[in-house]
Amino acid sequence: MPVSVVIGSQWGDEGKGKIVDLLSQEVDIVARYQGGANAGHTICWGDQTFVLHLVPSGIFHEGVTCVIGNGVVIDPVAVMEEIRMIRELGYEVEGRLFISHNAHLIMPYHKRIEQVREQARDGGAIGTTGRGIGPAYVDKFARTGIRVVDLLDRDVLRTKLTRAIEEKNTLLRGVYGAEELDVDAIIEEYVEFDKRIDPYVTDTTEYLCQALRAGKHVLAEGAQGSLLDVDFGTYPYVTSSHPTVGGCCTGLGVPPTEIERVIGIVKAYCTRVGNGPFPTELEDATGEQLRNVGHEYGATTGRPRRCGWLDLVALRYTSMVNGFTDLAITKLDVLSGLDELKVCTRYRYDGKETTRFPSEVQTLERVEPVYESFPGWQEDITEVRRFEDLPANAQRYLRFIAEQVGVEISMISTGPKRSQTIVDRGLALAAD
Ligand code: GDP
Ligand code: IMO
Ligand code: MG
Repeated sequence: MPVSVVIGSQWGDEGKGKIVDLLSQEVDIVARYQGGANAGHTICWGDQTFVLHLVPSGIFHEGVTCVIGNGVVIDPVAVMEEIRMIRELGYEVEGRLFISHNAHLIMPYHKRIEQVREQARDGGAIGTTGRGIGPAYVDKFARTGIRVVDLLDRDVLRTKLTRAIEEKNTLLRGVYGAEELDVDAIIEEYVEFDKRIDPYVTDTTEYLCQALRAGKHVLAEGAQGSLLDVDFGTYPYVTSSHPTVGGCCTGLGVPPTEIERVIGIVKAYCTRVGNGPFPTELEDATGEQLRNVGHEYGATTGRPRRCGWLDLVALRYTSMVNGFTDLAITKLDVLSGLDELKVCTRYRYDGKETTRFPSEVQTLERVEPVYESFPGWQEDITEVRRFEDLPANAQRYLRFIAEQVGVEISMISTGPKRSQTIVDRGLALAAD
């Protein structure tokens, strides 16, 4: 059995957690491949709601094994706290969660450096989540990072931490005039993690590849969204990893030839947290309505999310980069009650129309979206379970998306709960 990948097609928070939780019913392993605790993946079942930051969204399915791959940057404090909370809910984690020995660690100095760099950027701040993600990936690629495996050997950890903190202190003091970090206090705190994290640490690449050979089905869970990808996103207003499909191979160590399905998660409108261009942003009452009805507040930081119309220029671009085999449209219910819906199909720039997604922010900040208008629907659709039971205008809206992207829609989410989903791979909406 192969690998399926779930990928955010926009700027994150598309509802990946909900879809991964739903699909976990059909798979053996769920594996996170990039990002870190900047992610906030919400899962709702029964009357429970839980937000996961590092542990894969399959953990609430007893028969599923979860993997945090080598491409993820791990905050040991955050992961142990998350494990504690999951256990408190009554779910066994030991033996069901494996953490890559090669994954890099997030240390207190990464968060401190991120903070002072954001402040130093003044008006140009990225608006990061403050979880130390960028600086941790910097160390990984500078080949000065500390990995999970280093946590298991106290002497190695002491040596590496001392060297790293001394270097960071020079930077903090010399460049940013910031307070230095206490080397001994950090070492004392982190050497304690060896026994706690040890039961979870393994060679996850070996584990995954053997599982694939044994016919297991792996669901790879992307974090963030394609437009936040460090190469394909709205640089520099991006995260420091690869949420797009290539990140799945490098972040887990699974060969691309094993990937059979690439599911693009598409929110029925757009949101963005943090700074950076957002051509279809609505800074009016409609944007406010989307934020209120959709509860668009960050699952990690609580920040209000910027809201706007669906952007098909951007979606066609991320579909091209990822090769989506099918789409899951989420939060369709949030559009109920709007008289008119708009969808951006082209951009106007310097008097000309284009369907190309520009890679440079100075252009993207100046493009004007060109919209197609659709009549909305008033019905509450949260209990609808079949495509044909959706209001005709909702069906038309979905058909338009599938046609414009040229990819079939296989899932439609009509509410935050597992059960509030129309699942039908035979929908073949693109063929209409
Ligand atoms: P993720 O980061 O992609 O996993 O998404 P988040 O969890 O950050 O944000 C999605 C939010 O929308 C969460 O609060 C979900 O519970 C909620 N959600 C997911 N799907 C739907 C849906 O179809 N309708 C509504 N109303 N809420 C949804
Ligand atoms: P999930 O997985 C939405 C955004 C931040 C900021 C930029 C860089 O829940 O979809 P970082 O802390 O990664 O260096 O911040 O990326 N960002 C997200 N936005 N959802 C996320 O994750 C995000 N993770 C990072 O707001 O703009
Ligand atoms: Mg989120």
